[in-house]
Amino acid sequence: MDKLLIEGGVRLAGETAISGAKNAALPILCAALLTREPMTFTNVPQLNDIDTLLKLLGQMGVKVSRDNATVTLDASAIDNPVAPYEMVKTMRASILVLGPLVARCGEARVSLPGGCAIGARPVDQHIKGLQAMGAQVTVEHGYVHAVVPRLRGARLFTDMVTVTGTENLMMAACLADGETVIENAAREPEVVDLANCLVAMGARISGAGTDVIRIRGVERLNGATHRIMPDRIETGTYLCAAAATGGEIRLTRTSTAYLDAVVDKLMDAGCDVVAERDAIRLKAPARLTAVNIRTSPYPAFPTDMQAQFMAINAVASGAAMIRETIFENRFMHAVELQRLGADIRIDGNTAVVQGVERLQGATVMATDLRASASLVIAGLVAEGETVIERIYHLDRGYERLEEKLAALGARVRRVA
Ligand code: UD1
Repeated sequence: MDKLLIEGGVRLAGETAISGAKNAALPILCAALLTREPMTFTNVPQLNDIDTLLKLLGQMGVKVSRDNATVTLDASAIDNPVAPYEMVKTMRASILVLGPLVARCGEARVSLPGGCAIGARPVDQHIKGLQAMGAQVTVEHGYVHAVVPRLRGARLFTDMVTVTGTENLMMAACLADGETVIENAAREPEVVDLANCLVAMGARISGAGTDVIRIRGVERLNGATHRIMPDRIETGTYLCAAAATGGEIRLTRTSTAYLDAVVDKLMDAGCDVVAERDAIRLKAPARLTAVNIRTSPYPAFPTDMQAQFMAINAVASGAAMIRETIFENRFMHAVELQRLGADIRIDGNTAVVQGVERLQGATVMATDLRASASLVIAGLVAEGETVIERIYHLDRGYERLEEKLAALGARVRRVA
């Protein structure tokens, strides 16, 4: 199993380009299931999660072709509307095929994702929404089985804000009979990117980016070309890495547009952040000031940046409180950061981080995608060598991580 070796203590400096957003690409590639015509997607990141999804679509009968960041999907014939357990268990976002499959084929069998390291993460809201739209849904042998001749528009209300739930129901509603209103909808920029793609396909959607989305169903959708938005979490992760090392970097092919909450905290921590056209510059002080964090749905501070801020707080001056309100078990990185010398106390969904002068390199284990990113940041500032095991988590969500970090001067390499 691959490991990442990081020689810490280098101040990051230079420029690197940000990839397309994983969390936008996953639902948007699933949208291809809604049309018989070919779809072309550009700026698709090359990540294990994308490979998994393309494999899943391929085994349903979708013709997949790929040339670097461009993916073409032809779902003219779907012969097997099933997402098997073997695939769903490696990537929970596979549930995103459920809505489009039911809408297009009138039937879908999708394995329940089960638990994952960061919490239980059920899909009851996805199911409740489809039922309200007239689907007969049963859960048998670990699979969600949904059947309906044609979905009908409905008023949907989700009990909590759910990103993939909103996306699944918005996609399903595009081909339903009549109008669907999703209340308490997720406002994440990735939901808006998906809506933009669906509109290019002929869907009639208004309100994406607010908490009430209206979709007027149409008989069929057409093919289209769509460019995936930049990855705001990858952007935020590199900004944190530079900030923690007292560095000065420029990130291209991205924007601060969807990063207000993160940029605000980096500025509170003492960084200068300048928005350019399609680029961001950050200059960090020699030592950051600790900043309090509370995660919440967009536009508040994203849970996917919580672990990275725990790493920067670990070496900042002062103490900070981090509250995680989205997932019940998302502090696994804390014990690994402690192995590097961080001073962190956990009480329920709150972590208190007392900044220390320095961390020391050690062997640590990645437990989930963003937790791994926090260990990379900690490794970059720690004295000596840090070895991060199980980096397959990083490969799910960070394209060419070592290459990009090396471009910024980091001493990092992958070993088998
Ligand atoms: C998406 C993102 C993930 C991010 C998360 C929160 C993708 C592919 N993944 O995950 O990176 O961390 O949003 O911003 O976009 N819930 C239920 N029942 C449901 C659905 C959700 O109880 O049917 C709960 C979850 O357990 C969680 C909360 O709602 O506590 C939010 O989860 P949700 O927004 O659905 O996360 P994902 O869409 O899976």
